[in-house]
Amino acid sequence: MTDRPALSLNPGSRGSRVLGIGSAQPEKIVTNDDLSQIMDTSDEWIQARVGIVERRFAEKDELLTDFAVAAGKAALEDAGVDPSEVDTVILPNCTMPTLIPNAAAQVAARIGIPSPGAFDLNAACAGFCYGLGVASDLIRAGSAKKVLVIGAEKLTDSVDPVDRANAIIFADGAGAAVVGASDEPEIGPVSWGSAGDLVDLIYMRDQKYIYQEGQSVFRWATTQIAPIALRALEVAGLKPSDVDVLIPHQANLRIVEAIAKKLRAGGARDDMVVADDIKYSGNTSSASIPLALDHMRKAGTAKPGDVVLAVGFGAGLSYAGQAFICP
Ligand code: UT7
Repeated sequence: MTDRPALSLNPGSRGSRVLGIGSAQPEKIVTNDDLSQIMDTSDEWIQARVGIVERRFAEKDELLTDFAVAAGKAALEDAGVDPSEVDTVILPNCTMPTLIPNAAAQVAARIGIPSPGAFDLNAACAGFCYGLGVASDLIRAGSAKKVLVIGAEKLTDSVDPVDRANAIIFADGAGAAVVGASDEPEIGPVSWGSAGDLVDLIYMRDQKYIYQEGQSVFRWATTQIAPIALRALEVAGLKPSDVDVLIPHQANLRIVEAIAKKLRAGGARDDMVVADDIKYSGNTSSASIPLALDHMRKAGTAKPGDVVLAVGFGAGLSYAGQAFICP
């Protein structure tokens, strides 16, 4: 026996839950026809192969942090939580133009959150689900009481504007969730992992522009991601038939539909609502899941109390998913 002092833990909570959701997008709408003016592509090809009708691009002087602030404020308002109550800010992103300083601390200050723990988290397009998992566990462990998770991206800074393989897919925006304590668990354990041996499938070429082997990523996503989503249900003690709303990362509508098909083959209901926010928002990486959820709640297709299954995947390759109750 040593005589070292015993450490004590803050009392955590039995569960955590999403208290509110918010999002923000640039004003500027860019159609497929707009893109076909500057590169060899067409509305027909983009809609058929990717499912995007239009997307939002930030102006030069609009920053990732601007969208993060707006989305964070909207989520706090939705949750009815005052900024002074937030003790932790997690900002999943992969397109902050500088590594130093991070985005989280400055975004928190602009929202008016006094001296929170604040850090960025890079798991690319899986970032939001990673952030939600960390937030949930911080709360359950008693390390945090209210966490703001903001997925925010300005992908147009990281895409060659005339590279038709990428410029038609990626877009800008932010989505946020406020996470707090709950007597009963309303956020399931995160199901996450990575395939670092496939790192070369998506990376920043010459540290400048995103390059991806589209077809290989497509094959990986359509075969490997549905089992991750099923595992997220299993660890939460849920069945596929319990899912009301499925929100896969909005990478490509054909990938979204392939994941939904696999889940239905595994027992998910035909009337499960499947996010198709990519149609009007494009692929916004770590922002795509909360952005889709915010839009679906506003449209009434995701309702308070619904069981939501989210699953993100992308560069790394990294992936993560979890089930949670819609606020
Ligand atoms: O969010 C991070 C994770 N990323 C993803 O999940 C993305 C996964 N990949 C994809 O979504 C798809 O692979 C892309 C959307 C990137 C590409 O779609 P695809 O159906 O895999 O097209 P492809 O690369 O196989 O190209 C098919 C054809 C080619 O022409 P040929 O060689 O058959 O004559 C391409 O040159 O389509 C051509 N093509 C285009 N045509 C018109 C490629 N991009 C375009 C374009 N417009 N924008």
